[in-house]
Amino acid sequence: RTDGTTDFYEIVQKPARAEIIPGSPTQVWGYNGLFPGPTIVSRSGRRTQVRHRNELPVPVAVHLHGGKTPAESDGYPTDLILPGGGGASHQHHGATGRVSKGAKDYVYPLDQPAATLWYHDHRMDFTGPQVWRGLAGFHLVHDDEADALPLPQGDHDVPLMICDRAFDEDGSFLYPSVSPDLQGEPGVTEEYMEGVLGDVILVNGAPWPVMEVDNTRYRFRLLNASNARRYQLALDPPAAEFVQVGSDVGLLGAPVRHDELPIAPAERFEVVIDFSAYPVGTQVTLKNTLGDGGTADVMRFRVARKAKDDSRVPSRLVEFERLSRSSATRTRQVNFTQGANDGRVMWTINGKVFDPDRADVESKLGTTEIWRVVTDVHHPLHIHMAHFQVLSRGSEGRVRPSDAGWKDTMDIPDSELVEVLVRFTGYRGRYVFHCHNLEHEDMMMMGNLDVM
Ligand code: C2O
Ligand code: CU
Ligand code: CU
Repeated sequence: RTDGTTDFYEIVQKPARAEIIPGSPTQVWGYNGLFPGPTIVSRSGRRTQVRHRNELPVPVAVHLHGGKTPAESDGYPTDLILPGGGGASHQHHGATGRVSKGAKDYVYPLDQPAATLWYHDHRMDFTGPQVWRGLAGFHLVHDDEADALPLPQGDHDVPLMICDRAFDEDGSFLYPSVSPDLQGEPGVTEEYMEGVLGDVILVNGAPWPVMEVDNTRYRFRLLNASNARRYQLALDPPAAEFVQVGSDVGLLGAPVRHDELPIAPAERFEVVIDFSAYPVGTQVTLKNTLGDGGTADVMRFRVARKAKDDSRVPSRLVEFERLSRSSATRTRQVNFTQGANDGRVMWTINGKVFDPDRADVESKLGTTEIWRVVTDVHHPLHIHMAHFQVLSRGSEGRVRPSDAGWKDTMDIPDSELVEVLVRFTGYRGRYVFHCHNLEHEDMMMMGNLDVM
């Protein structure tokens, strides 16, 4: 529904049965009962309003990942929608956040360029298990500049949500470390310090699917929606390459070619693959060279037929402003390490576990900062609202080809100093930044970002 200035959506979060493993239905928690949730499509600069009704047995919070969103709609971890989606919506300011009963309207101005965003649950301490059960979907933003490009479009522009899951014998999702009702207990325990991994790879909710393709170019919007798994994607046979045209929060200035593409939890890469590099009849496997056994393959493409292709990848894409070191007005040190809280092992940022009531980082709207990030093991850094560019890696300072563009998430390898340039445009208010290994996030590896 639309009233000319705002597009309205309504989503009901509810349990549903999905046949993921043939013959053994899985209970999912889905947006509209679907996993992945429905894809929302917005126009840059035009408001989208999404009413979420909660018919699940637990509180939820909805975050639009990559969105420049006013704080009250950003899905702050204690801004909960309590169960009771059928009833009336009341919002009050509790001690622990803006709590709504049953339903909440999220307002997204989407004053940002075309990009592949996604939305997912963000409930404090329980994001891992709630996303695992299915609470994730795409939210695409289009704009005129991107629409004018001759890239593949229509049914040749395909979002692919990649995630791993484990299944119990009866077909239910197996999340090993949490009480089944997700009440009371914290989400994860020390046995899962590295995060929860699955042995089945799902693409758009289907295990190792096969997609029939024309022998033409396709644009794929790759999202790693896994809780903790990193992938290194490659094509087998390797005749075609990944021509990257977009990063997390927008298109690139110019395409970047990759034989292999590393993708950490929550990262997005928009790539063009040209299947004319393969004879009709070829099966092309999208592989994960970091995996083994069932996690070594992601999906397959079957080049089914010849077709006409009038798409191409131009050598210039969109206007892209590269930030320079000298534009930064301050530098911060951010350390992601293991730590302890009340005798339990936890994950910390600068030695502290998350406290919604403590100010951590205060940044001025309109400024640019350098964040110098160091980690003990791999951690995907994610910043809400503010977008960033990768400035340098390691002692040589050389960035990787996959670091190109505007980002909101990046993998920080262990003991490599990474510098990013963060630009604080958007809105004032309290946001968060955190590790996007969702078990690390639930084990409190999160800080407050106050944009002043
Ligand atoms: Cu995708 Cu704060 O998360
Ligand atoms: Cu986010
Ligand atoms: Cu982490």
